Amino acid sequence: MSENDINIFITDRKGTIHDVIAPTDMSINLMELIKIHEIENEASIGVCGGMAMCASCQCYIESEHDLIPKSDDEEAMLSEAFYLEKNSRLSCQIPISTNLDNLRIKIAPES
Ligand code: FES
Repeated sequence: MSENDINIFITDRKGTIHDVIAPTDMSINLMELIKIHEIENEASIGVCGGMAMCASCQCYIESEHDLIPKSDDEEAMLSEAFYLEKNSRLSCQIPISTNLDNLRIKIAPES
């Protein structure tokens, strides 16, 4: 683990918690992190490629981290998503950064 790495805890759709090491210096987002670690079936996450246009990457934020605010595009997409909760976010819209160390997220059910 390098000084640019943080830990993120990802609960998959079956309820298993994955303790994942995430690089903060590679310009990746949470959706890409989920894909890199093959936490879910590749075809079921990140369908639109991270454009805030599919909601397949929806996750629930379970820790109290300060996240980057939602863009209008993210708000609009989430408003049409299934299984929406107050703590829903599109994981493709959240870049991995050092302030997310020990973030806990849960991947929303497949819709
Ligand atoms: S990958 Fe499509 S909205 Fe995030």
